[in-house]
Amino acid sequence: MLVSAKEMLNKAKAGHYAVGQFNINNLEWTKAILLTAQECNSPVILGVSEGAGKYMCGYKTIVGMVNGMIEELGITVPVALHLDHGSYEGAMKCIKAGFSSVMFDGSHYPIEENIAKTTELVKLTGELGLSLEAEVGAIGGEEDGVVGTGECADPNECKMIADLGVTMLAAGIGNIHGKYPANWAGLSFETLAAVSEKTGDMPLVLHGGTGIPADMIKKAISLGVSKINVNTECQLAFQEATRKYIEAGKDLEGKGFDPRKLLAPGFEAMKATVKEKMELFGSVGMA
Ligand code: 13P
Repeated sequence: MLVSAKEMLNKAKAGHYAVGQFNINNLEWTKAILLTAQECNSPVILGVSEGAGKYMCGYKTIVGMVNGMIEELGITVPVALHLDHGSYEGAMKCIKAGFSSVMFDGSHYPIEENIAKTTELVKLTGELGLSLEAEVGAIGGEEDGVVGTGECADPNECKMIADLGVTMLAAGIGNIHGKYPANWAGLSFETLAAVSEKTGDMPLVLHGGTGIPADMIKKAISLGVSKINVNTECQLAFQEATRKYIEAGKDLEGKGFDPRKLLAPGFEAMKATVKEKMELFGSVGMA
């Protein structure tokens, strides 16, 4: 059964570790993440961008697939199914379809409008027992058409949004979706510390988890980050292993063309990446 992300993130915040949000694209992605979470006895959040939602034939299809998999694979660790960078309309659709968690990304609106729309969603998700993520200060880079310039969040605005009663808050601290450029300035721990001080017990979310060095991840967790989003890194792990398989000519040997064989190395590579992240974030054994 899907659960809200509230309890797992409050526990993570109190226990000084972070829960990973891993974005899904298809059945292999979902299965790899769920099995790894179970093997690691770790809570997990499955992230779905609006683009990935369309790709997977809509939110209802995804809810059916994830619920079916939880049952058929005997997954007992807490799993939240979460809309990533949702629009207001997207969040409404996911709530109707049976997601257990949504993000409303109002960071590109003026703060008053972000507050108004977030307030409505706080009420609705609260009534239904779902978790809600809000965002202040855009995350840089591009993810599925959502483009941000990467400005740091204003800690006072973070407090205003946190006080509305959201479950978790994403604050821009110089993080970027996708690979980090060579001249990246690193995370702004000064901003993170200020946001943390203003927002108290609120679990903070770090987007753009791909390619952030381990020491920065650890420091971010020590300053109140309790949810870390990873997307590109699983894609790269899958791509690299699949490329190796084909370059080695394995698809031409015997029944190597069978998708269940062709996709297997990428699947295992994703599992290894998810496990590595769960170990780094400290969520292993915390289910
Ligand atoms: P990466 O693709 O950089 O890991 O970012 C993931 C993310 O933040 C999803 O919202």
